[in-house]
Amino acid sequence: MTEQACISDLKHHVDAPVTLRGWLQGKRSGGKVVFMLLRDGTGVCQCVVEAKDAEAFEVASSLGQESSLYVSGTVREDARSPGGFEIAAGSVRAIQSSEDYPISRKAHGTDFLMGHRHLWLRSERQSGILRIRHTVIREARRFFDNRGFTLIDTPILSPGAAEGAGTLFPVDYFGEEVYLAQTGQLYLESACQALGKVYCFGPTFRAEKSKTRRHLTEFWMIEPEIAFAELPDLCELAESFVEHIVQSTLAAHEGDLKALGRDIAPLEKIKAPFPRLTYSEAVELLRSEEVHLRLLGELEEDKGRLGSWIGQLQELEKKLSEAKKEWQRENITREIHDLRDEIRTLEEDLGNRPDHIRDAREFEWGKDFGGDEETILCGQFDRPVIVTRYPREVKAFYMKADKDDRRVVLNLDVLAPEGYGEIIGGSQREDDLHALIARMDEEGMEKAPYEWYLDLRRYGSVPHGGFGLGIERTVAWICGLKHIRETIPFPRLMSRIYP
Ligand code: 4AD
Ligand code: MG
Repeated sequence: MTEQACISDLKHHVDAPVTLRGWLQGKRSGGKVVFMLLRDGTGVCQCVVEAKDAEAFEVASSLGQESSLYVSGTVREDARSPGGFEIAAGSVRAIQSSEDYPISRKAHGTDFLMGHRHLWLRSERQSGILRIRHTVIREARRFFDNRGFTLIDTPILSPGAAEGAGTLFPVDYFGEEVYLAQTGQLYLESACQALGKVYCFGPTFRAEKSKTRRHLTEFWMIEPEIAFAELPDLCELAESFVEHIVQSTLAAHEGDLKALGRDIAPLEKIKAPFPRLTYSEAVELLRSEEVHLRLLGELEEDKGRLGSWIGQLQELEKKLSEAKKEWQRENITREIHDLRDEIRTLEEDLGNRPDHIRDAREFEWGKDFGGDEETILCGQFDRPVIVTRYPREVKAFYMKADKDDRRVVLNLDVLAPEGYGEIIGGSQREDDLHALIARMDEEGMEKAPYEWYLDLRRYGSVPHGGFGLGIERTVAWICGLKHIRETIPFPRLMSRIYP
C-alpha cells in the first residue's frame, strides 16, 4: 500500500509512489492513454493511465465524470498538469462509478446551475469563490479579535423589528409572532455597556421583495459596536476594516482571483483613507453637470462596446459552423453562451441607463439612495466612499440626530467602487432616552418590546455606535461577480429556496 497523499502536498512526494483519492473532474483519451483530472478538495492533478496497465486502463476508460476513486502511482513533475505535478498511475479503483453527471462541459443557463447548486459547488470557479469567502470571514473576525473586541452571539429569534417592519420574516413562537433577526445590533448595544468593544457575526434575514443582484433574504453580517465611539471614530474603523479585508484576501488569493478573471489592479488601490461625503454633498454630486457629462460619455462608450461584442459573437458563430471536433464545438458553444449572457446584460443595462442618468440629474434631497444612485456615486471614485448624514426619514429609528442639523442623522454608509454600492451601513446611536422615545413615537413604534433597549439609555448611557458589513456583498465586490448569488453556498433569494 502506497502512502495516502493530498494533491496540494505532492511536491513532497516527487518520484515516490502515492495514493490519491477524489473525484474525476474530467477525462481525455488518446488511444493508448487516458488522462484523468482528479480533484480532491486541495487541488486538481492530472493522472496518466497507460494501456499497458490493462486493469487500471479499463477502469479509467469506463469511469464517468464525477466518479469517486482512488488512484495510485508515481509522482512526476510536469508543468502541463494543473498543480505542476502528475501521477503516472498504475492502479485506478472506483469507489462509486457515476453516470450522466448533469453538469457537463456544455454551457448551462444560470437557472439550471442554481437548481443544481449542490453539484455546481464542485466547479473550480465556485470552490474558488468559497475559498475567498472563507478568507474574508476569517480576516474580518481577525481584525476585531486583534483589536480587543469580544465576540457576542446575538439571538436569531427576536421579538421586534430593528431595521424596519417591512422586511421581517415572522415565525410562530408557541402561538406568539416573533421574527428572524434582521441584525444583532440592539443586543450588541447592551453588550458594549458590559464589555466596551464587541462584535457579532451571524446570519441575518430580510424579507426584501427585491430581485436585484445585491439582495439575499438570508445573508451574513459582521457588526462591531463600541462604547464611547462617535461618528468620526466609526468612519476610521470602517476604512481600516475594509482595507484589511481587501488587502489580506488579495495577498492570500491572487491565484483564485485571477482564475475568476478578476482584474486585481483596482483592489490594490483599496487603502485608507477613503473619500468622505455627506449625503447633501452626494446629492449635489449626483445632480452636477460634471457627473452628467461623464455618464453620457460612458453610455456612448458602452454602446461601442456592445457593437464590438456583437461582432465577436458573429465570428464565434462562424467558427462554430466550421469546427470539426466535438471538444472544439463544446468550447466554442460555451464561449458563445457566455458572450450572449454578457450581451444580454449589457443591452438591458443600456436600455435603463438613460432613465438613471435623468433620475440622477433630477434627484431630490430627502430621498434614499437606491442601487442606481449608489452605482453612479461609487463610480466617481476608485476607493470606497463613505457617505454620512442621511435624512432621518430614510434611516432607522435608533440613529442619533445631528445636533447641528436635526434633519439628518449621524450615520455612515460605505459604498464599494466599480459599481458595487453599499457594503457597510452603520451609525452613532441615539443615546438620549427622551430623544429616542420621541423618535419611536414619531415612527408609531410600540414601546413594550423595546423596554429593555430603553433601559440602556436609563442606566449609564454613553455615546456609542457601530456598523454592519455584509459578507456576501463584500465577496461579490472582491471577486468581481455580477450577482451576489454565487457568494454564498446555498443562496436564499426571493425566487429561490431549493436546494
Ligand atoms: O445597512 P444595514 O441594514 O445595517 C444594519 O443592519 C445595521 N443594524 C448594522 C449596524 O449598524 N450594526 O445592513 C448592513 C449591511 C449592508 O451594508 C449590506 O452590506 C448588508 O448588510 N445587507 C445585505 N446583504 C445582502 N442582502 C441584503 N438583503 C442585505 N441587506 C443588507
Ligand atoms: Mg443600509
